[in-house]
Amino acid sequence: MSKASIDWTKLGFGYEKTDYNIRYTWRDGAWDEGALTPDEVVPLHMAAACLHYGQECFEGLKAFETSDGDVVVFRIEENAKRLVRSCRKVLMEAVPEEMFIDAVCRVIRANRRFVPPYGTGASMYIRPLVLGTGPQVGVKPAGEYMFIVFATPVGPYFKAGFTPVDLVVEMDVDRAAPLGVGDVKVGGNYAAGMRASMSAKEKGFAEVLYLDAREKRYIDESGPANFFAITSGHQYVTPHSESILPSITNASLIVLAQEMGLNPDRRPIHVEEIFGFLEAGCCGTAAVVTPVGSITFGDRKAVFCDDGAPGQYCTALYEKLTAIQVGDAPDRHSWLHRVPVE
Ligand code: PLP
Ligand code: COI
Repeated sequence: MSKASIDWTKLGFGYEKTDYNIRYTWRDGAWDEGALTPDEVVPLHMAAACLHYGQECFEGLKAFETSDGDVVVFRIEENAKRLVRSCRKVLMEAVPEEMFIDAVCRVIRANRRFVPPYGTGASMYIRPLVLGTGPQVGVKPAGEYMFIVFATPVGPYFKAGFTPVDLVVEMDVDRAAPLGVGDVKVGGNYAAGMRASMSAKEKGFAEVLYLDAREKRYIDESGPANFFAITSGHQYVTPHSESILPSITNASLIVLAQEMGLNPDRRPIHVEEIFGFLEAGCCGTAAVVTPVGSITFGDRKAVFCDDGAPGQYCTALYEKLTAIQVGDAPDRHSWLHRVPVE
């Protein structure tokens, strides 16, 4: 099948219409078989629990075309597990891991012509979501759920791609509470952060860096991505916090950092430490590895990329990760799931 006519190298991170999405319904105690549909619109009861009480969670993962024309998905099993955790935390019907993997593969196969060609730097972003669709007026879990997976080809999340971005430490808004739902991927976390993120962008920053909500002393994460840094002792450090999303990209970078001799450590990171770091970065499925050029904290600024170029460690981590993702480097940790062709 010929490729969709898209200028792959000009893609940003947005929604592009593809051919199909897949939908499953949970009703009377069981998920159905799921069906592909070209319909982009979801019919929803006005009293659906997702609309009123936020019973919604989602995932984000990427598929890549390799040099031999296969399509591979990065760490799909981890996304499947995280979606189960998200569902359980907000009392939604969990999507079985096998069903998740099958759904993602069905959607990729149905939209094969939208998987960006090898070498373009673009990828297919897959967005699975679960909605509490059953009507409720009292605050309680929905009696019916819908699981949807759509796919869309994407380029870089931060406009300029692998180029340093400027962050600002957010002092006035908390994204998530320590005993809340910051550690799962529910839509409300993103709504909570939108005003901080938009106001940072108006001031010329790419994103905010949140501090822990309890003490306002330790770094949590950025709006759409985890945070990491390289210390003056050449160590990879990343925040330990109960209110951040456990990033699958970060977990992968920790493995790569270990292999690079960067002695990775997940620990509370005091915000004052930013002034001693050699490099800093954001990481996530959408953000991949995005070098941080500066962090503004009140009236002070920590600068990491004096010459405007990404640092050596961010560059090495980015190159190692992306080489594995597109199949150019050996998949030593079995991170790639080949999408079976039918
Ligand atoms: N933190 C937040 C709040 C996110 O939305 C994401 C994206 O999924 C991440 C971190 C990165 O997680 P992952 O690497 O699993 O995509
Ligand atoms: C992802 O990286 O997959 C995310 O979900 C982040 C999102 C804010 C785009």
